Amino acid sequence: MKLLLATLWACFIVTSFGAKLPSGFKKCNVRQITSDMCLPKAIESAIKQMDHPIKKLGLVSLESLVVPSLIIDSGSKYVATKQILKNLKLSGFNETSCSKAGFNYTENTLNLECVVPNFRLDFNYELHGQIMMLSVYGNGTGWSIFRDNQLGLTFKLGEYEKKGQKYFNILSQQLDMQPRDLDFDLQNLFDGDEESADRMKKIFKQNVLDIYYDVKSGYEEAFGKVFAYLFEKILEKVPVANIFG
Ligand SMILES: *[C@@H]1O[C@H](CO)[C@@H](O)[C@H](O)[C@H]1NC(C)=O
Ligand SMILES: *[C@@H]1O[C@H](CO)[C@@H](O)[C@H](O)[C@H]1NC(C)=O
Ligand SMILES: *[C@@H]1O[C@H](CO)[C@@H](O)[C@H](O)[C@H]1NC(C)=O
Repeated sequence: MKLLLATLWACFIVTSFGAKLPSGFKKCNVRQITSDMCLPKAIESAIKQMDHPIKKLGLVSLESLVVPSLIIDSGSKYVATKQILKNLKLSGFNETSCSKAGFNYTENTLNLECVVPNFRLDFNYELHGQIMMLSVYGNGTGWSIFRDNQLGLTFKLGEYEKKGQKYFNILSQQLDMQPRDLDFDLQNLFDGDEESADRMKKIFKQNVLDIYYDVKSGYEEAFGKVFAYLFEKILEKVPVANIFG
């Protein structure tokens, strides 16, 4: 009984005050901002500090973030195959710069515009279908780099109360992802037939943005969920008052 009480008391202390953001994270008064750069710089700096795990918030490192598996559906024009990506590692967030961030208090929406100069994916892939009317198949390792990847991210937030404090949760998110260019490599395409693989990769590289734009919404939906998952981890532990000054 003593143990139980002690445990409950400890729980109460922790939850009643809510977690604080790590001291390096900057706070902004969102009611005042309209045009100033406090929020963009605070977000940019928070992303940079997430290059290592933050245990008290249960946050994994962004460098590099692992997604166990991701399936990008076919497009409607050029890509007639699912892209199955497994053991996907994302990196390059440490060089993110954010030019805009705005919080709309009437709508409870947070809007960000950031650029990741080298948004890198390393993965195992499985392909079986057609790209640009050409048969393609393979199973192996690969990487891609989205260069100057412009991210426009909007979160719609809801509010709830826990132990007398206000918290946000994420109701929905929308990501727009526009790289200036894209580079990639796929090992073991055509089960290791190098000549066919090289010919195919050359064609894909010449048309890489057309191919990307055909499946863009699939990537945006997937990465939108990844970013929302990470942001939600902060929101569920840190009360609104401790996020925005
Ligand atoms: C970001 O990380 C990469 C890979 O670890 C490193 O080469 C690069 O110098 C880092 N950039 C900054 C701005 O810290
Ligand atoms: C917030 O959203 C409302 C409703 O869409 C809009 O009327 C208002 O102009 C927005 N405020 C800002 C600061 O963007
Ligand atoms: C691809 O390779 C992996 C590892 O060798 C294997 O587990 C998987 O079943 C393969 N997938 C296909 C579709 O052949």
